[in-house]
Amino acid sequence: MYVGGKLREPIMITRIYEDYRRLSTNTAREIMRVVLEKPDAVLCLATGETPLGAYAEFVRQAKMQRIDISGIRFVALDEWVGIPPSNPGSCHYFLHRHLFQPLQVEPRQIHLFDGMATDLQDVCTRMDAHLSELGGIDFLLVGIGVNGHIGFNEPGVSFDRSAHVAELAPETRATAQKYFQGETVLEKGFTLGIRQIMDARTVILMANGARKTDIIQAAIEQPVSESVPASVLQQHPNSLFFLDAVAAAQLQDSSRKA
Ligand code: GLP
Repeated sequence: MYVGGKLREPIMITRIYEDYRRLSTNTAREIMRVVLEKPDAVLCLATGETPLGAYAEFVRQAKMQRIDISGIRFVALDEWVGIPPSNPGSCHYFLHRHLFQPLQVEPRQIHLFDGMATDLQDVCTRMDAHLSELGGIDFLLVGIGVNGHIGFNEPGVSFDRSAHVAELAPETRATAQKYFQGETVLEKGFTLGIRQIMDARTVILMANGARKTDIIQAAIEQPVSESVPASVLQQHPNSLFFLDAVAAAQLQDSSRKA
């Protein structure tokens, strides 16, 4: 298969954990592994409810073991257009609150999308340039939307795209209200594109709970399709699906459930 200019064989691994706590602990261990193995790694860590437990555990471990993360670089996966960084629902706020502040990450280590920019294309162009300068992503942790989106790569997205502004799908706008304190108008989102996601050296997709059961089955076991963007990870040379037992409940291939 052809990915990012190189011929590589897809390897997709599914790991199913009994509950959210074990899922989170094991995900945190993977983040820790990258940071220890590559002290200047480029990390792209999703926001959302799913990875909260993993981030709390990673922060706890990193502090306890006094891990030096001063060389790690962080890039954003996505951001809501028009939502300021002071809004607790913004990806900016989330990353600072759950990772950057507790880990004392310095601004020079961070490159996020500017949700308040007026020139949206310029934000995307600068993200593409920054990522190229860094040499791409070493470790990407993504969640999955109930409609199969990753980042804000919504159903129907072209797999060739790099950073871009997406029109948010109706399910995304509705589901995302949970991140905000009051009813919030959400129309567009910045996102890394599938091309950049596929170029990441390692990708972990994390999912838990009953809301994700059906879409996880589609993403892992249905043919790769732009209508379920997460399914593209079946073609990634090094992708892992980290699931709790509930999210994995509809998987047909019983060997995955070992
Ligand atoms: C959101 C974000 C994604 C996130 C996904 C799942 O809309 N754009 O980056 O991973 O949907 O969110 P959650 O973990 O809250 O279910």
